[in-house]
Amino acid sequence: MASSVLIDVDPGNDDAVLIALAAATERLDIEAVTTVAGNVGLEHTTRNARAILEWLGETDVPVAPGADAPLVRELETASHVHGPRGLHTQPPEPTADPVAAAGANVIVERARANPGELTLLAVGPLTNVALALALEPELPELLDDLQVMGGAAFVTGNASPTAEYNFYVDPEAARRVVRQAGPKLVGLDVTNHTTVPSDTIREWASSDEPLRTLASWLAYAAPENVDDALDEGTPPRVHDATVGVDQLADVLEFESYPAEVETYGSHRGALACDDRPRTDREPNVEVAVDIDASVFRAELVDALQSLNIESWPAVQTRLSEPRSSMHS
Ligand code: RIB
Ligand code: CA
Repeated sequence: MASSVLIDVDPGNDDAVLIALAAATERLDIEAVTTVAGNVGLEHTTRNARAILEWLGETDVPVAPGADAPLVRELETASHVHGPRGLHTQPPEPTADPVAAAGANVIVERARANPGELTLLAVGPLTNVALALALEPELPELLDDLQVMGGAAFVTGNASPTAEYNFYVDPEAARRVVRQAGPKLVGLDVTNHTTVPSDTIREWASSDEPLRTLASWLAYAAPENVDDALDEGTPPRVHDATVGVDQLADVLEFESYPAEVETYGSHRGALACDDRPRTDREPNVEVAVDIDASVFRAELVDALQSLNIESWPAVQTRLSEPRSSMHS
């Protein structure tokens, strides 16, 4: 049974892996892709999403650009991690244009047109999802499910000691989504365990397309730099692919908690889960607290290996400075 998904992304190398996973399997049917400013600016995330989909042959999937900045703050990109244009291997420029409608509007329109059928996978800052909630407060009831890659419930953050990057960049949006939408939060508690074995990435980096480009995205490095990048330590985490794999293989275990997102001071973006044995607060989120990492790896590798497409003359983006370990 295929899952029909809306994907909100800020590609971003791990976002690109999620898109590739969705394209690789018939069990994920992409209804639409919406883009948001995050890892890099909206112009880059939108071009990257369109280029990746075209490379994967998903030319009929509409791409709708969303917010070019957080709700109230200045954008803080992660270009030091994802490369100046957001991908360590850039596909050729896309030929299709994005749709004219804004991302938040597309999320609402598709949910209204397919009540109870679509799962929204949000893997960037939650600006578009928050705007969609403002447009349509009934959005949670119109969606079949809402899975968010975001938050660090019981582990250290990656953008600050207490905050995961997507929540850190737009904490006001994350607060609104947590308060109003009852999301499933797939945070660093589980995505810290989402790595593909280094040997597999090294082998793919010296293979033909598409594996060579997928290796670059998995390692957050240009193909010729993959070995050096992996020599630095454990392979980077494929955070965003986690919500896609969970649609295929239920690799996550969730627990319900009352939760809030901090928006003030140095703890901006922190996800505060109330795990006291006795609390008078009602749960409002489900938090992923465990993952079957070996099934995650097997499902992701098997799906990506099944991609069979024409190779492209990929153009590598040369980083001006070495990759940072933050967020990856
Ligand atoms: O913290 C990891 C998240 O931040 C991922 O979605 C990654 O793409 C970045 O957006
Ligand atoms: Ca992302």
